Amino acid sequence: MKKIMVVAGARPNFMKIAPLMREFRKVRRQVEVLLVHTGQHYDYQMSEVFFKDLDIPTPDIYLEVGSGSHAVQTAKIMLEFEKVALAHKPDCVIVVGDVNSTVACSLVATKLNIRMAHVEAGLRSFDRRMPEEINRLVTDAISDYLFVSETSGMKNLKKEGVPAKKYFYVGNVMIDTLLAHLPKINRSRILSALNLQPRGYCVLTLHRPSNVDSKEALEQIAGILRQIPAQVKLVWPIHPRTKGKISEHKLDAVFQSLENLILVEPQGYVDFVRLVKDARFVLTDSGGIQEETTFLKVPCLTMRENTERPVTITEGTNILVGRDLKKISRSMRAILQGKVKQGKTPKFWDGKAAVRIVKILLQELTAGK
Ligand code: UD1
Repeated sequence: MKKIMVVAGARPNFMKIAPLMREFRKVRRQVEVLLVHTGQHYDYQMSEVFFKDLDIPTPDIYLEVGSGSHAVQTAKIMLEFEKVALAHKPDCVIVVGDVNSTVACSLVATKLNIRMAHVEAGLRSFDRRMPEEINRLVTDAISDYLFVSETSGMKNLKKEGVPAKKYFYVGNVMIDTLLAHLPKINRSRILSALNLQPRGYCVLTLHRPSNVDSKEALEQIAGILRQIPAQVKLVWPIHPRTKGKISEHKLDAVFQSLENLILVEPQGYVDFVRLVKDARFVLTDSGGIQEETTFLKVPCLTMRENTERPVTITEGTNILVGRDLKKISRSMRAILQGKVKQGKTPKFWDGKAAVRIVKILLQELTAGK
């Protein structure tokens, strides 16, 4: 029987592995699957709550690497994952997304001659100052099976000279998760818990180093938030990194003085998606939220200069606004006046991406024997 290792480490990985684990369960007579959690994210609200919300089985192996600089974190994951890969000798390792856990485990697996699959391959922001872009480039360069979520990914891989037989357009596993959990999302009580009305608020998420690490960027953000009209509440599930930086730069009082701001802990999957689904708009620097808002047809203002997910702009509801106050004010005003971008759902964002991936992988792995 073939043995596959699925790796997850940080929050945005969990919604991507959930549908894969579900599909693998259906073929458990043909393939043994081990789930490895690197421990890159470890707080309850950054990790465990997602396992509960998404019914992901408890990891078989937990590496407990924790936080650190990029080099420290990546190296620690590699050290621990190598031991695990040597002990279990999987036929294939699956990594998802673009976090440090993704690149660390791909490097280890490839050097042990274990076949590598990357889910969410081919995305490119063309901005090498982003740690995630380096993680994407390296992971794709050394993977054997590249599963692509939007057509830009196919073009990028082709341009990079990746042989066509290595990459597959399968759609978006995050949307698999969203669709599978819609009934739960619709039952969430988060709106009443926070005393919110549908469309009476916007959601903010920020964690990119370029937006939250310097005092100057954080002050600019406070200025932007002040532009949001007082009648529109602003729900901010704050990432631990951002919370830490605000305290470090002694800006707590600046943010607390915003009267319409509702600061909350990072939310679990179900409550968070419910908040997004009923929001007037979302202001974010996340990767995944650009896709979820496109699917949910909620306007999304992305506080970045570029995106590795261009389909959310060409087909979806996303607009890149950076930290440009004028652009943000203009876009917010338009949304509040009801002038919203009407998006459409990209191809294969249909809840079946994981089905396609598991089918292809089983074929490839048995053909390769
Ligand atoms: C990581 C990913 C990023 C992803 C984001 C989603 C990389 C390079 N970055 O960024 O792509 O969009 O996750 O959240 O892999 N911390 C806690 N508790 C936790 C985890 C982190 O308090 O459970 C704090 C620590 O102080 C840590 C900081 O947050 O130093 C940053 O965590 P880290 O995993 O290094 O990067 P993220 O900013 O979360």
